[in-house]
Amino acid sequence: MPKNPEAVYYSDYLKLDQLLDAQEPHSKRYGAEAHDEMLFIIVHQVYELWFKQVLHELRAIHQDFSKPLLDDKALYLVAHRLRRVLTIQDLMNDQVAVIETMTPQEFLEFRDYLVPASGFQSIQFKELEIRLGLTRHTRIAFDQQSFYNRLNDADRSYLENLEEQPTLFDRVDAWLARMPFLEFEDFKFWDMYQRAVNAALDHDEAIIRANAADDQQLQTELEGIQANRDNFSALFDQQRYQQLQEKGVVRLSQRAMLSALFITQYREEPAFHLAWQVITSLAEVDEKLTIWRYKHAMMVQRMLGTKIGTGGSSGHDYLRRTTEQNRVFKDFFAMSTYLLPKSALPELPGRVRKALGFSLEIGKSTG
Ligand code: HEM
Repeated sequence: MPKNPEAVYYSDYLKLDQLLDAQEPHSKRYGAEAHDEMLFIIVHQVYELWFKQVLHELRAIHQDFSKPLLDDKALYLVAHRLRRVLTIQDLMNDQVAVIETMTPQEFLEFRDYLVPASGFQSIQFKELEIRLGLTRHTRIAFDQQSFYNRLNDADRSYLENLEEQPTLFDRVDAWLARMPFLEFEDFKFWDMYQRAVNAALDHDEAIIRANAADDQQLQTELEGIQANRDNFSALFDQQRYQQLQEKGVVRLSQRAMLSALFITQYREEPAFHLAWQVITSLAEVDEKLTIWRYKHAMMVQRMLGTKIGTGGSSGHDYLRRTTEQNRVFKDFFAMSTYLLPKSALPELPGRVRKALGFSLEIGKSTG
């Protein structure tokens, strides 16, 4: 006996009538249909479908991070869904090659019929950016204007409302900041780490002093060490860290940054495995999105040269600049500044290792 009393038909289930009837080249309205407009429409539609799936995953992940407690089971699901997002992103990045089979001349056959529609009006893409954590304050404006000017009222208010909500970045920051092992009984990660950093830098300085070929080289290398000392000390100093935040050098809170560092440095401890996977995946989401932006920008340069976009931006130039500026989880990359080699890392105290390990001992199974 099937579970569904009503038989399902493939094309009904997938609503193929609607889906396959949704490609309407505009060039046809004004004369002969431009052959490549079909490709242009289908490629955009396929992207919008993938955006829909990515948002479906990100909304679920976002919801999980919004709960007061994220246990290992939930964290596993977050890591699993993030891997799915990353796989889709790979596909989206490869797909740029499909639109690139259209030549600039073929594009010109129908481009003028599309004005003033623009990728700026991809509300799903903008939701993706906002949901991840791109804010008005951090995103690049185009020619001092906002893409919001290009939206209808309903779309604008949908995105404006979304901007009022905590983003995935905010939730991840809060999750990291409340990580329980940062302080454990009388153990404080930052005290231990600061001592290890100082020892490593003292060691480097001694090597430089012993091996410098001349005074000038010594001076240059000592300045390098001092710059490293300054960098590290900002990490442990609340006021200096805040200054870095104000200058936009870092965005994560100080506690979240220290937790991310703790997890990354000691990722082989069982309690950190999943958290480390999540941090790495979020960095990869950011990286793959940046790669998409870059590929799209290159493709646009090939299609338009220096022409402005239909949405009124400077086209390639604007898009190229978004690859640098419109980043969300950049701190997970900047964090490498503060990493120490494994050999310079102190052993964690026994009681902390025990707390970070699986506590179920052989013979004490809960059976
Ligand atoms: C011939 C192909 C394409 C050209 C010439 C093109 C051109 C442009 C230009 C010039 C912009 C900047 C905004 C503007 O001034 O209009 C833009 C933005 C955008 N395009 Fe495309 N595009 C193409 C294909 C695609 C495809 C296949 C997608 C897939 C969804 C896409 C998605 C977007 C998005 C999401 C933006 C907003 C990016 C942002 O604000 O950072 N574009 N595009």
